[in-house]
Amino acid sequence: MKEFKRTLITTALPYANGPVHIGHLAGVYVPADIYARYLRLRGQDVVMIGGSDEHGVPITIKAKAEGVTPQDIVDRYHSIIKKSFEELGISFDIYSRTTSDIHAKTASEFFRHLYDNGQFVEKTSMQLYDEKAGQFLADRYVIGECPVCHQPGAYGDQCEKCGSSLNAVDLINPKSAITGNTPVLKETHHWYLPLDRWQPELEKWILEGHKEWKSNVYGQCKSWLDMGLQPRAVSRDLDWGVPVPVEGAEGKVLYVWFDAPIGYISNTKELLPDSWEKYWKDPESRVVNFIGKDNIVFHCIVFPSMLMAYGDGYQLPDNVPANEFLNLEGDKISTSRNWAIWLHEYLRDFEGKQDVLRYVLTANAPETKDNDFTWRDFQARNNSELVAILGNFVNRALVLTHKYFNGQLPTVGTLEAVDEQLIAEVNSLKDQMTQALDTFHFREALRLAMDMARAGNKYLQETEPWKVAKTDINRTATILNTAVQLCANLAIAFEPFLPFMSAKLLKMLRGDKISWDMLGCFDLVPAGAVIGQPELLFEKIEDDVIQAQLDRLARIKEENLVKAWKPEPQAPEVDFDTFLKLDIRVGRVIECKRVPKADKLLQFLIDDGMEQRTIVSGIAKYYEPEQLIGKQVTFIANFAPRKLKGVTSQGMILSAENPDGSLTVISPEGDIAPGARVK
Ligand code: 2FM
Ligand code: ZN
Repeated sequence: MKEFKRTLITTALPYANGPVHIGHLAGVYVPADIYARYLRLRGQDVVMIGGSDEHGVPITIKAKAEGVTPQDIVDRYHSIIKKSFEELGISFDIYSRTTSDIHAKTASEFFRHLYDNGQFVEKTSMQLYDEKAGQFLADRYVIGECPVCHQPGAYGDQCEKCGSSLNAVDLINPKSAITGNTPVLKETHHWYLPLDRWQPELEKWILEGHKEWKSNVYGQCKSWLDMGLQPRAVSRDLDWGVPVPVEGAEGKVLYVWFDAPIGYISNTKELLPDSWEKYWKDPESRVVNFIGKDNIVFHCIVFPSMLMAYGDGYQLPDNVPANEFLNLEGDKISTSRNWAIWLHEYLRDFEGKQDVLRYVLTANAPETKDNDFTWRDFQARNNSELVAILGNFVNRALVLTHKYFNGQLPTVGTLEAVDEQLIAEVNSLKDQMTQALDTFHFREALRLAMDMARAGNKYLQETEPWKVAKTDINRTATILNTAVQLCANLAIAFEPFLPFMSAKLLKMLRGDKISWDMLGCFDLVPAGAVIGQPELLFEKIEDDVIQAQLDRLARIKEENLVKAWKPEPQAPEVDFDTFLKLDIRVGRVIECKRVPKADKLLQFLIDDGMEQRTIVSGIAKYYEPEQLIGKQVTFIANFAPRKLKGVTSQGMILSAENPDGSLTVISPEGDIAPGARVK
């Protein structure tokens, strides 16, 4: 593998139209942070770039919906996102934003350079226009049926169902997201980046030059290239964005996917005004883009074409380790449906447990296929891995050192086979971890780090220092020295994944500087060093904490059902005589009880004005019998009697079906005489 002098790690810029959720974290930010921390431990020159993507239609739509300005929206979410990343320990060297002046200047200059060098084609074409709103419907301003998979609700630029990148004019039955109106076609003028010009270079660079890329990334690029690239519009008729820096382009801004990746450059410039260029243009530097799978085409085809069109030595990414998607409790994560675990809320609800989330999202990362996050798995991984394996080993090693040596690390004596085996195993795990981390297999690397802690537990089990201490304190010294050295190794091996745990452990071990080279060494803590009081690294998460999260999701699911509910289509027409055939009456409930061995049925005794009748109704799931006694209900009186679970029902109580499928009995208002007919 080629050695590079420095690495620029970029992370997809999240839209500042909402907070970040676990899907963003698992897909992009946690893996990028693991990689950055790992390379720093290796002593490499690394810069990790992040920032908020503050242009684009999702932001203006949100602003309109809330009656505030787009700037208000991005100010709000940029600060929430930035703060929550910091709290999770995502170690950005800079986290900036695309509404910064430096970005406007950089993006504008980038466009102008391409324009001046004839890198665009200009076209006048017919675009969707909302006459009522008086504006063109770019991207998410228009919704319709996807021309590829025929799913309704596809956006003008992308179908979230099949992932196809779309042209708004191709949507079937398009509707304006602003007014709901059917748009008309209206002529407009735009600048296009002719991706087709770059097809041969892209094919050579990716298909021949980067066969090592993840198969999902390589495969998606290949299929785009096989389809043949087309020119792509890089401007929009909108009033929110970086203005197109060309005379006569009033009312037009750069397409958000043109300006956002330039954000990587502006943010590097903002961080390193004097040396940013070497990270982008020196062939001994490399760029690695961490993104989610929906961003592959923009990072592997569009942005590289922009960079090639610009020239001036800009390097193309060396790797684009895109992840697949994370689902939540079996359902696709969705911002609009609030089906997500929001990072800022997690940090509030699970104070001090940043590493638990980092651990679970990495252990279950969607590296090769979509994966599912469940709260039960979160609890199990915390309790039976972090607490029971890693926390338990470190605690035992440190407690025993305090017990037998007053916390002062004893000198190591002659090593026995079991000690040598442990040291060899740690070194072999280190080699495997290095290989996994170098190739972006972070799940695997984390599993190997946990194997190191497992090896520690096995070592203590086999050597039993608490027994040996009774007869051979020198051998106990060797065992505990070795165990404490392993603790120091764990602080290094886990640092990229669990930085808070690592810092806490190092503090207990009185360590400060660590490096990847030190991993595998068993002389990291000097004999005689006084070890701090052992503190628990992780604590058990109880069932009630998990249940509270599951209850929250259940409430959201219910709210979504209500929001998505639509009345059933009207039944076929009937005449009045047909209606009159049904004898609907008002009655009063005299008695109500459950039908034995039938969990859905309630048995009513109804005063129907003439006599008393029994009616059985399937509403037991929604009412306690006592709630209904004395209540007025409506019922169909002239149904032929029928037997339900051994009880003869003389009619049917009328109920309305709610959006969640539950039933509410129809009860007339006011005191109506039992037996009154409903007409
Ligand atoms: O998909 C998204 O959330 C985009 N905001 C990602 C932009 S990545 C980059 F190019 F800036
Ligand atoms: Zn589709």
